[in-house]
Amino acid sequence: MKTTIKLFGLLLLSASISCSTQKTSDIDVIAENTTIAEGQYELQSNIIEKTTKVLIPRTLDKDGKIVYVPIDDWTSGFFAGSIWFTYKLSNNNKWLPLAEKYTERLDSVKYLKCHHDVGFMIGSSYLNGYRQTGNEKYKEVIVETAKSLSTRFRPNAGILQSWNVDKDWQSKRGWKCPVIIDNMMNLEILFEATKFSGDSSFYKIAVSHANKTLANHYRDNNSCYHVVDYDPETGEVRSKETAQGYDNESSWARGQAWGLYGYTVCYRYTKNPIYLEQAKKIYDYIFTEKTLPKDLIPYWDYNAPNIPNEPRDVSAATVSASALYEMSMYLPEKKYKLTADKIIATLSTPAYRAEIGTNGNFILKHSVGSIPHNNEIDVPLNYADYYFLEALVRKRDGLNMNYLTQITKK
Ligand code: GLY
Repeated sequence: MKTTIKLFGLLLLSASISCSTQKTSDIDVIAENTTIAEGQYELQSNIIEKTTKVLIPRTLDKDGKIVYVPIDDWTSGFFAGSIWFTYKLSNNNKWLPLAEKYTERLDSVKYLKCHHDVGFMIGSSYLNGYRQTGNEKYKEVIVETAKSLSTRFRPNAGILQSWNVDKDWQSKRGWKCPVIIDNMMNLEILFEATKFSGDSSFYKIAVSHANKTLANHYRDNNSCYHVVDYDPETGEVRSKETAQGYDNESSWARGQAWGLYGYTVCYRYTKNPIYLEQAKKIYDYIFTEKTLPKDLIPYWDYNAPNIPNEPRDVSAATVSASALYEMSMYLPEKKYKLTADKIIATLSTPAYRAEIGTNGNFILKHSVGSIPHNNEIDVPLNYADYYFLEALVRKRDGLNMNYLTQITKK
């Protein structure tokens, strides 16, 4: 009995020490969102487990039905990744076998060479899995993925080609070698592959791509173009355009967030201050943009024509929030974390967060896929949820984000 009381006392003490740097409201927001995530994924995985088909939920269609995607879809890793984060946030072992199963379904993605998105797909699934379990097999998948991604490097232009130009809407543009700002998100897998394999070619490709993107995607006001088309033979920039934004000169909201996150990641691996400077400049652009609403959830494009009567894009906000927690590790100013905290607080209100059992079992409402393609307007998106949960892990773990660089096996 005495020993039990002592142990209980010790547990209380250690809990109060580890929580002493966090405000009660922070702890509440993390606990509350973890409960929601567990509730929604319980329901989502019950549906998935009822069939032998591979079901990967991405969004809702116009009738409110869940849209499932095949494993070669660019969003295929985010559901597995969200389960990894739910496992981490809840400490509930029931999530581990599901996270492993949903990750390992994506094994053949490592051979995909037809687009650049393998970084998103394998990073969200296998890399998170590796970070939480140290599974050596996952490392091999990451290195193989980096090899596939590297086949898209065009040395004369110094960039990774994002899209092929074989689809009708792509070929109509007359592009030769389109690079989208989203591609900055695929570099993490290259940096990790160099760490795992010792092959520096992946690292060099990532650095070259980041430098070229910095030179050619960004405008003087630190906003960015969505698409830059290169001549892969000469490296010449052929055009600067948009595909998912309002127009070529506008600032597509999610693209700004991809850049913020991407340059922060480049700083993590290289410690080159130009990348952190770039992330600071992007922050300054986003958070002083006059069309950004006070609640910090942007409209889908900062220059959309009918603001304030335009859809918001929650996914852009969650990507930024996650990036800002990482930036706050490297920078002394408090504003980065405070901004991220404010985004998380806003998203944790009923205006944006669904109740358990609603919203097709997704966590957040009000994202936008692509307005120009009339696709996924004001819907939940699996990647909005994924970056929201990542942001919560980062918020909880504060400046001690060693889970990015060390295995944090239980
Ligand atoms: N990477 C595709 C998108 O952001 O919509």
